[in-house]
Amino acid sequence: MTLAYLQFDQVSKNFAGVRALSGVSFEAHAGTVHGLLGENGAGKSTLLKILGGQYRPDGGRLVVGGKVCQFGSAADAIAAGIAVIHQELQYVPELTVTENILMGRLPTRLGIVNKKEARRIVAERLTEMGVDLDPDARLIDLSIAQRQMVEICKAVMQNAQIIAFDEPTSSLSHLESEVLFRLVRELRANGKTLIYISHRLEELYALCDTCTIFRDGKKIVTHPVMAQVQRDTLIRDMVGRDVTDIYDYRPREVGEDRLKIVALSGKDSPEANNFSVKRGEIVGFFGLVGAGRTELMRLLYGADQRLSGKVELDGVAVAGSGPSAAIDAGIVLCPEDRKEQGILAQASISENINISCRRHDLLGGLFLRHKKEAALADAFIQRLRIKTPNRDQEIRLLSGGNQQKVILARWLAEPGMKVLILDEPTRGIDVGAKNEIYRIIYEVAERGCCVIVVSSELPEVLGISDRVVVMRDGKISGQLDRANANETAILSLALDKAA
Ligand SMILES: Nc1ncnc2c1ncn2[C@@H]1O[C@H](COP(=O)(O)OP(=O)(O)O)[C@@H](O)[C@H]1O
Ligand SMILES: [Mg+2]
Repeated sequence: MTLAYLQFDQVSKNFAGVRALSGVSFEAHAGTVHGLLGENGAGKSTLLKILGGQYRPDGGRLVVGGKVCQFGSAADAIAAGIAVIHQELQYVPELTVTENILMGRLPTRLGIVNKKEARRIVAERLTEMGVDLDPDARLIDLSIAQRQMVEICKAVMQNAQIIAFDEPTSSLSHLESEVLFRLVRELRANGKTLIYISHRLEELYALCDTCTIFRDGKKIVTHPVMAQVQRDTLIRDMVGRDVTDIYDYRPREVGEDRLKIVALSGKDSPEANNFSVKRGEIVGFFGLVGAGRTELMRLLYGADQRLSGKVELDGVAVAGSGPSAAIDAGIVLCPEDRKEQGILAQASISENINISCRRHDLLGGLFLRHKKEAALADAFIQRLRIKTPNRDQEIRLLSGGNQQKVILARWLAEPGMKVLILDEPTRGIDVGAKNEIYRIIYEVAERGCCVIVVSSELPEVLGISDRVVVMRDGKISGQLDRANANETAILSLALDKAA
């Protein structure tokens, strides 16, 4: 075995009231990809922030290439050859791709930045890396995936020896992920030490040589050869209990058509689509990124303006068209980008969960309301395994995945709901909480609610849906009952090009 290039030695970190990391030790080798696994809040991002010089550890040390390192800032880490691509991307939106990549290192001639030269260098390296990005584009005009690519290119061009990725694929399409994987593999072949965090097990198996599992701020185990470890073993170690089937599908009686969509179209969704959902039915919407699922749901909910069509609930057309009409009718949409749309950063977990229930609960004393809200918040904190010292913690202090859970809880807790639409409900969410989210979905359906789950995870769609609707190019391309739904059938509906 070669000497480890990177060593974490008894690393600890506390935040007020939270032990984010306690005594974590493991090593990573040059020319390998080392996966970090663990539930939301297990301490993975904190470890990378220590590696990247953003946080100082309270105890323990970091050894890089045989030298003990103490970073006072992110710049120190970069100087030591470490690049961390954080979960929350860090770029300057108003600057161009070239400026972001070469930030602080722009070539100068006689003290003046040589823009042409900078652009040439960046364009050349981007081509080399096979990344299709315009060096002159401002980051603000790029997609999230493209912005992330910029950060990765920046790390590569800084010639970092250690590159760490914190959930890089959570906002990437399949194709974009492929580009990322290719880059990671090339970096490995060039002898870099790579650290890779993800919740997607397939991806981890495909990419990682070695992996370390975290739970509650502690290292549970390091597997020197990830390929030899069973999926169930990984899940058990992450969750701390056996989870045999994370979907745990519960069949149920479905009733009559309850929600009916007739010839619905809009500006971003010009094709007129029809579908219906029965009382108590869970319908999975599958399609490639860009197939138009989110757009169709936004039309249904009234978030985007309709060009044609109507929505019927229990045989009655939903009057009006905006989201408030939908909400009044009992239609609830939990959006894909929950963080951007839904978070009250300064408010507590409890307030973030209860905000929409308050609308329904104007009667009753303040004391009673407080008690009810506290009970609801605690129930969701427990069920979704939201990692927090208590319900009064400000949501902004939670890890990314736990913030997602809080916002999701808000929608799952909505009383009087008849239709629940969840757009990518488990994106960025760990295995244990996924299992609990599925159970809540089954419960909601058992109450007679129509549930629509938009998901890009094929196993998830197959695992929880009573029926699968597939979209392609803005149009519903087919539907399959649970009994007839399988990977091949769904993918062919999602992929087949209309001639
Ligand atoms: N700045 C902070 N203040 C308070 N608590 C924090 C802060 N950053 C992280 N934490 C807490 O530390 C724990 C670990 O978080 P994190 O490392 O982000 O987890 P992961 O990346 O594994 O999901 C969580 O309980 C989180 O709420
Ligand atoms: Mg994290």
